[in-house]
Amino acid sequence: MGYKVAVVGATGNVGREMLSVLAERSFPAEEVVALASRRSLGSEVSYGDRTLKSKALEHFDFSDTDICLMSAGSAVSKEWSPKIAAAGAVVIDNSSCWRYDADVPLIVPEVNGDAVASFRKKGIIANPNCSTAQLVVALKPLHDRAKITRVVVATYQSVSGAGKEAMDELFAQTKSVFTLDEIAAKKFPKRIAFNVIPHIDVFMEDGFTKEEWKMVAETKKILDPKIKVVATCVRVPVFVGHSEAVNIEFENPISADEAREILCTAPGCLVIDKREAGGYATPFEAAGEDATYISRVREDPTVENGLVLWCVSDNLRKGAALNAVQIAESLINRDLLNAKRRAA
Ligand SMILES: NC(=O)c1ccc[n+]([C@@H]2O[C@H](COP(=O)([O-])OP(=O)(O)OC[C@H]3O[C@@H](n4cnc5c(N)ncnc54)[C@H](OP(=O)(O)O)[C@@H]3O)[C@@H](O)[C@H]2O)c1
Repeated sequence: MGYKVAVVGATGNVGREMLSVLAERSFPAEEVVALASRRSLGSEVSYGDRTLKSKALEHFDFSDTDICLMSAGSAVSKEWSPKIAAAGAVVIDNSSCWRYDADVPLIVPEVNGDAVASFRKKGIIANPNCSTAQLVVALKPLHDRAKITRVVVATYQSVSGAGKEAMDELFAQTKSVFTLDEIAAKKFPKRIAFNVIPHIDVFMEDGFTKEEWKMVAETKKILDPKIKVVATCVRVPVFVGHSEAVNIEFENPISADEAREILCTAPGCLVIDKREAGGYATPFEAAGEDATYISRVREDPTVENGLVLWCVSDNLRKGAALNAVQIAESLINRDLLNAKRRAA
């Protein structure tokens, strides 16, 4: 028997991608329901070759829903996830609302898939920030081999990470540059077209941004609390696909060749690393794909055991929708959903 799946935020960037990923992976769904705000009541969204009409979250009865994939922001999740979980569905949430709650597992299946079992405390599982997801996929196999002690990461994050309005803003501003119209900045604090903005999410007291803080806290929770992480998060005028320049220090020696070999067979990773023009991945190739692409692996001559690499992934897929669907698959593969149904 298949599962009943609800997608909350189905009209958004991540929600639409969730519906595509569910269809592409032939997720064992008996029924899929698209939910969004009242504003989108009746809006059509694609699920494989079918079209679903969006329903309003506030009027939906979750009592026979098995899985709820949430991607409607923190405020909506804070109010709705506990109610949906109480009604009996397992909530897999994409916002940052529950990620740091000790009773909510934060999961990247390639890294800490077994931790899904602890969803029972609140009935909620958190999906990490898009930049963290691809980072930990790349770090995990290297950590297993040589024990990472410190990571310095600079991100180059696409505008789709800030939602569909942010994509519209880049498009409109780019057009305005050519038509010599006024450039209006609403979603971003400065013009994003033909520009780079070293600021994502709010500033914190210590001068870091919340996005940078998230990468630190989430890498520790998912991979290892002992790893020191420092991040600089930057928005770039790319529509889809986040890139990261990553400096990694290890307790034990590891060569670039060895790291490349390990990453070639690591789950979720795809190495493209020819030392020639174009022999590396860019967001253009990663968009629409599932893999975390790794390129430019080299030894860092300035530290004892260090590597530098470039890592690119589709933020709407591994950074959000794909990871959420993989979490749902992890529950099914471990028989945790049927066990929940039997216990109900
Ligand atoms: N984009 C990424 O790379 C990424 C990665 C990881 C996590 N996330 C997280 O995923 C969430 C969604 O991001 P997004 O990029 O998809 O945003 P988005 O494109 O702006 O879409 C937001 C979605 O939430 C719905 N929504 C808003 N208020 C609602 C309400 N009161 N009740 C029900 N639905 C409501 C919207 O419905 P309407 O169309 O009806 O307004 C829309 O479907 C955010 O929490 C974001 O932080 C995003």
